[in-house]
Amino acid sequence: MNDSITIQEHVNTVAKQVGQQLLLSLNVLEGAPSTLIEAMEYSLTAGGKRIRPYLVLATAYAIHGEADIYEKAYGAACAIEYIHTYSLIHDDLPAMDNDDFRRGKPTNHKVFGEGMAILAGDALLTQSFGFVTDMAKKGYISAAIAIDIIDDLVKYAGAKGMVGGQVADIQGEQGITSISQLEYIHEHKTSDLIVCSVLAGARTAGASAVQLEKLELYGRNIGLAFQIQDDILDLIGDAEKLGKPVLSDIEQQKVTYPFLLGLDESIALVQKLTEQAKTAIVEANLQESSLLLEIADYLVHRES
Ligand code: IPE
Ligand code: IPE
Ligand code: MG
Ligand code: MG
Ligand code: MG
Repeated sequence: MNDSITIQEHVNTVAKQVGQQLLLSLNVLEGAPSTLIEAMEYSLTAGGKRIRPYLVLATAYAIHGEADIYEKAYGAACAIEYIHTYSLIHDDLPAMDNDDFRRGKPTNHKVFGEGMAILAGDALLTQSFGFVTDMAKKGYISAAIAIDIIDDLVKYAGAKGMVGGQVADIQGEQGITSISQLEYIHEHKTSDLIVCSVLAGARTAGASAVQLEKLELYGRNIGLAFQIQDDILDLIGDAEKLGKPVLSDIEQQKVTYPFLLGLDESIALVQKLTEQAKTAIVEANLQESSLLLEIADYLVHRES
């Protein structure tokens, strides 16, 4: 990032570049059923902040220190955004959170029907692994690093990761769920994919074991903060800015941090976790850590 642009401008610029990569990536689907491709494209290109791809790229840059790493890391950024987008399509289904708006547009199942929305999610998840194998085939990463990244995707997005968190989320009930159960939900449904984003960028750029450990801690802390902020915005945010409904958690009787701790304590916790995340970055001894420090603060103040 050059010094004269703000983090917000940088996030927007990277989001546009990632959006172009995502659109291009659909070309390999030629020959698949056209409605399926349309449904995948609809949600992939609906917008979204692209925070996870940003973290992939910013972490790769933090390790490598030169902008030429972006080209090599785009595949990992797309893999994660495919998984994230699939998770949102499924999260909005009537059987889950039953929401009608996402990224400022009607949800996927509202446009394409529930069956196609489920299948678009399935296809996005499956395609995601192809990005990583492709990075290795192009020689951007070694086969060994590709295996490590794929292992992480399995670990953080699967049954013991994001999907496990979503299971606990739908099983959680207001008035019964404890703070430690809620922490499990948030760490897995949201924080895990954020940890995975940071690690994928780091692995692409050849991070050391010590750097990976500190970066995992960074991802864990901003990831938990991110979901607590999501809960806060569901209560006091603006649906127009968010591009999704507010008060959805109350309607679905979800257990959230504001529900258990109150709003003020939840806001203070987001701040505390962010400070812990920044400390981990300082300890990681990276080539170029400013983007990772700035994005952590930016996420605390986000309104969308
Ligand atoms: C929403 O994620 C779902 C959560 C895990 C909180 P984002 O807030 O990153 O959604 P987009 O990608 O910007 O739409
Ligand atoms: C979503 O959490 C987590 C995943 C999609 C894995 P939420 O249900 O809180 O996300 P929003 O508020 O619908 O974006
Ligand atoms: Mg949900
Ligand atoms: Mg939801
Ligand atoms: Mg939410």
